[in-house]
Amino acid sequence: MTVSKTAVTAVPLHPLLAGRWSPRGLDAAHELTEEQLTALLEAARWAPSANNTQPWRFAVARRGTAAFAAVRDALAPGNQLWAHAASAFVVVAAETTGPDGAPRPWAVYDAGQAVAHLTVQAEHEELAVHQLGGFDRDRIAALLDLPAAVVPLVVLAVGRRDAAAELPEALAARERTPRERLPLDSLLIPVPEQA
Ligand SMILES: Cc1cc2nc3c(=O)[nH]c(=O)nc-3n(C[C@H](O)[C@H](O)[C@H](O)COP(=O)(O)O)c2cc1C
Repeated sequence: MTVSKTAVTAVPLHPLLAGRWSPRGLDAAHELTEEQLTALLEAARWAPSANNTQPWRFAVARRGTAAFAAVRDALAPGNQLWAHAASAFVVVAAETTGPDGAPRPWAVYDAGQAVAHLTVQAEHEELAVHQLGGFDRDRIAALLDLPAAVVPLVVLAVGRRDAAAELPEALAARERTPRERLPLDSLLIPVPEQA
């Protein structure tokens, strides 16, 4: 049975937003072109940021390289089960202090927004992005020799979705489950009529 992963929305959304989701079944033979990779990073680069500080940093490792294997080994075991088939990993980090040592309170927010841009561009490129918070931060920081102010936030498994990819049954079942969100009403904070 085919289940739609497209968001069910109160009003129509742009298909790039409604159609994006986070698959685990990825094509282990797929290779990203240089142009695709550049397009993803450019989409992130042009995100807005507080005071235009652009605190996002990216490390790219393509499947088949030693760096890819090292990032894969730093993933949580449940993520390693399927993310090995990604075409590339993109480690996303935030530079949390500026060159003058001043803290950047919005650095993590900004980096997340850059990733959001990247995911939309990926959808346009017919690529899948699955964000992974389940990884060993210290291991990734050591691998990339990151200074203390540059904090790894997430690993992006980027690739091409493969509906026929072999997955453990529990994960395969999640590929078939419709996506869910909290109702919009429950996200709205009541605004007092008189402040
Ligand atoms: C910051 C962040 C961390 C995540 N970490 C993981 C993870 O470690 N493993 C995983 O399988 N999915 C992870 N996800 C994917 C989420 O589970 C997924 O985005 C969420 O369930 C909504 O599904 P959708 O992206 O298909 O709409 C993460 C997503 C984000 C944004």
